[in-house]
Amino acid sequence: EGDKIDSESGGPEMPLACLTDFQAFARERLPKSTWDFIEGGADDSFTRDDNIAAFKRIRLRPRYLKNVVNVDTRTTIQGEEITAPICISPTGFHCLVWPDGEMSTARAAQAAGVCYITSTFATCALEDIAATAPRGLRWFQLYVHPDRQLSKQLVQRVESLGFRALVITVDVPKLGNRRHDIRNQLDLKLNLLLKDLHSPKERTSMPYFQMSPIDSSICWNDLSWLQSITRLPIILKGILTKEDAELAVKHNIHGIIVSNHGGRQLDDVLASIDALAEVVAAVKGKMEVYLDGGIRTGNDVLKALALGAKCVFLGRPILWGLAYKGEDGVKEVLNIIKNEFHTSMALTGCQSVAEINQDMIQFSRL
Ligand code: FNR
Repeated sequence: EGDKIDSESGGPEMPLACLTDFQAFARERLPKSTWDFIEGGADDSFTRDDNIAAFKRIRLRPRYLKNVVNVDTRTTIQGEEITAPICISPTGFHCLVWPDGEMSTARAAQAAGVCYITSTFATCALEDIAATAPRGLRWFQLYVHPDRQLSKQLVQRVESLGFRALVITVDVPKLGNRRHDIRNQLDLKLNLLLKDLHSPKERTSMPYFQMSPIDSSICWNDLSWLQSITRLPIILKGILTKEDAELAVKHNIHGIIVSNHGGRQLDDVLASIDALAEVVAAVKGKMEVYLDGGIRTGNDVLKALALGAKCVFLGRPILWGLAYKGEDGVKEVLNIIKNEFHTSMALTGCQSVAEINQDMIQFSRL
């Protein structure tokens, strides 16, 4: 380790040039059980790896001799402008990776002008996250608790703190099998105080996630209850099929994040990029469709947009950035992939994200 890491600055000797450079750094820096928790997939981790491999089965079809002096990466999600279609997926436990955890992430997202979806499993208080980056665009990812009254209080708190959408994660009716966490005997309950789940004055009361934290009985019919307690747009994260996409349209949902939870829940499902086209076709333009899972380069972002995503989200790369240098590390990660995406647009002949379309890609025969 000694010859690879500059002990004075705490940073590596060579500048990091792409997102996987941050992955290599995080692997060296983090305790093994934390690294395994972040990196791990469910079961054989087949889908986790396929999320990445699937992007490599798609080839680009560049168009040249188009003026690309002014490439504009800006777009909107749910009507709000972001500087590029590259935002931050909800991941829990940022304090495992960097001391002030989610507060650093929130500041980096605000500085980059992108949306940060804060997880129910955040390890900083929501009030502190909102206060440290008051101008940042934030959505809140909700795991519905079996005690609906608790969920309702949390939703109302989130709304009053200025979060702009509720992201309901649908792919965790129970936790997937994470073999590394079993082998490492990882116990997040012991390691971390889930400070976030009560307002500050209630912190001494029973932790929100003690016992059975996630309601596995939740059904499509329960979405109307959620819609009745909030004015925020509701987005479903984890949809992978046209059947569920059609149900989302029927239930007046505002958006879908096509996702397989980074391959951490049900293994052997489609890579998220391979499930995207089916979901996009099923919603027929009635809501925005986003994607997460396996986004590591600007070209990946371009491919997802070509297949109909309005925006993509990053999971693990944000945690690698945090592990590298907290807020500055996350800023660097976002900056690098935004620059890569700018290059991808210029080299394929796109001035604006609206020009990115299906003719720009082709599936390679293996
Ligand atoms: C996650 N993910 C996740 N999703 C969610 O809805 N709520 C959560 O609390 C978490 N927590 C979480 C922790 C860690 C350590 C990881 C790696 C992932 C899933 C996450 O939002 C996203 O779907 C994937 O991480 C996207 O895949 P990539 O970008 O990691 O390949």
